[in-house]
Amino acid sequence: METFEAISKRVSVREYEPRAVPKALIETIVDAARRAPTARAIEPWEFIVITEKDVLQKLGSIAANNGSFIKEAAACIALYCRDTKYYLEDGSAATENILLEATNNGLGSCWVAGDKKPYAEEVSQLLGVPAGFKLVSLIPLGWPKKEVGQKKSRKLEDVIHWERFQK
Ligand SMILES: Cc1cc2nc3c(=O)[nH]c(=O)nc-3n(C[C@H](O)[C@H](O)[C@H](O)COP(=O)(O)O)c2cc1C
Repeated sequence: METFEAISKRVSVREYEPRAVPKALIETIVDAARRAPTARAIEPWEFIVITEKDVLQKLGSIAANNGSFIKEAAACIALYCRDTKYYLEDGSAATENILLEATNNGLGSCWVAGDKKPYAEEVSQLLGVPAGFKLVSLIPLGWPKKEVGQKKSRKLEDVIHWERFQK
């Protein structure tokens, strides 16, 4: 799949088939994530891959308001960054790489908020994360239950400005 095709096909998928995702594919996805740009090239991330059903259930319960569907996923990546100046930008760039590489392989995924969420501390305790790391995102992965097309409300001509801000 070409880059623009993957970008255009990526959607938030919140319903998954009960089918495992091969370990090698998850490794490819994390490999894509660690290739993201980082401020000052410090690479502050840690990627925790969760595949155990009981832990996925607990994660879905802890983050119930935002990501109860984690319970149904085959896997979930908890993306942490060391608490650096640009941790959020660095972690967000890596998150997007995960979403795109998942799409590239036909996998469904969804960015579930981690940063600033009250449940971040409980997630960190569950996963044994030491102090000094920030939860940027939780990314459930699974084979999509149904085809979903991308819907964007703002068109290219609504968002693009040439040379200066014009409306
Ligand atoms: C920073 C960020 C946080 C998000 N948090 C959640 C979330 O907690 N739960 C959720 O279901 N979707 C979450 N999303 C996904 C958005 O709801 C989704 O991207 C948006 O509705 C647009 O739909 P699309 O991803 O299919 O294009 C988040 C997206 C971003 C970028």
